[in-house]
Amino acid sequence: MLYYFGNTMDRLQINDKIMSSFLDKLTIYDIILCILVIAITIYVHRILFRPYQLVRNVGDVGYITDGRNKKEVANEIRKRRRAGDVPPVYPNGWFSVLRSWELKQGEVKYVSALGQELAIFRGTVDNKPFIVDAYCPHLGANIGVGGQVKGDCIQCPFHGWTFNGSDGKCIDIPYSSKVPEFASIRTWRCLEVNGEIMLWFHAEEEEPDWFPPEVEGIKNGTMIYHGYTEHHVNAHIEEIPENGADLAHLHHLHSPFVAAGRDLRFTFSWLWKWVQHDWHGEWSVSPSDKHIGVMTLDHSLTIFGKKFPVLTTLAVEACQIGPGIVHLRLRHPILGDSIMVQTVLPMGPLHQKLVHSMFTTWRIPRPIAKIFMWSEALQVERDLMIWNHKMYQSKPMILKEESTLVKHRRWYSQFYSENSPRYSTRKETLDW
Ligand code: FES
Ligand SMILES: [Fe+2]
Repeated sequence: MLYYFGNTMDRLQINDKIMSSFLDKLTIYDIILCILVIAITIYVHRILFRPYQLVRNVGDVGYITDGRNKKEVANEIRKRRRAGDVPPVYPNGWFSVLRSWELKQGEVKYVSALGQELAIFRGTVDNKPFIVDAYCPHLGANIGVGGQVKGDCIQCPFHGWTFNGSDGKCIDIPYSSKVPEFASIRTWRCLEVNGEIMLWFHAEEEEPDWFPPEVEGIKNGTMIYHGYTEHHVNAHIEEIPENGADLAHLHHLHSPFVAAGRDLRFTFSWLWKWVQHDWHGEWSVSPSDKHIGVMTLDHSLTIFGKKFPVLTTLAVEACQIGPGIVHLRLRHPILGDSIMVQTVLPMGPLHQKLVHSMFTTWRIPRPIAKIFMWSEALQVERDLMIWNHKMYQSKPMILKEESTLVKHRRWYSQFYSENSPRYSTRKETLDW
């Protein structure tokens, strides 16, 4: 026993000696090298394994700032711009108000969108999301700020009235033995699909006559999630889907190679003329569902006027489902299929939150999926610079080659109804 103890002590002493001589020899350069190796390892790990995450807030991109404060520039342009004779600002349909991962069980969030103030919470009974008006009918506290989830109910943080998430009925008032019949809060129809919490908005409060389709690969988990991009756009909601039917802009705005960047002052530089994106597409209303518009596109790269081989070809099918959802299917001849779920949420009359979430089959490694997402985001940011500054032309000068634009406007008008909220300049004078 003593022998063993002595031996251990010896070993500890030897280890101490090695350690202290190692520390003595360490120089500042060794420490810097260590920090560099750790930083590079973390960075490479992020690129290879972590899902993509890109958030561009109002003013981050799409404005010419020239060193000035981004928010100030965005506000100045917003005040100066002529909006044009825009259609109603909040169309009828399903809108993604949160992504599923943004709302944990038992959590409540306050969301302001579609001209409504909402409290969105996830019940603890079977993990279902519920949407109610944010303002409590009692004395007007915002339930989305500090409300407590109790099963499938939400308790107001002010006096503790508790409302049922499914029908809005008040089920408990802590200081009253009886709950009056009239005590209730407005609820909103909601469902969770493809990793999105969707809300049904209708100006006449009609029930939905269509539902967002589920993507099989997302539902059964065979498609892998690779992250998301989020852009805040300063435009009317219809400008975003109209882009899909505007085939002429593809050949101009999206033809310069992605490396030419997003800033339209430099995108068309002669430096990048030798390599171009080539797009061929069409747009039509789905024959099976009048709420769906379909754009089909073939993409390839042209280098020095010659089509690049199969590697750069991509078949794209973009299904515009109602006013605020797009399923963008990308088919690559070697890598296989991927899907981007695009959602648009009107945060204000001329302020849209545009989100792309990407899912692919196992054949597409994460770095490649990230390149797809980065390229898509960059092309979107070219559109964004246009959207942030343009006015809505209600009577555009359209050529016969652009007839899909007229068809798209006619198709999109089905999402407006008599009471759809109209644009008012008074609200729009508020700063971001
Ligand atoms: S304001 Fe909500 S309970 Fe009083
Ligand atoms: Fe575009």
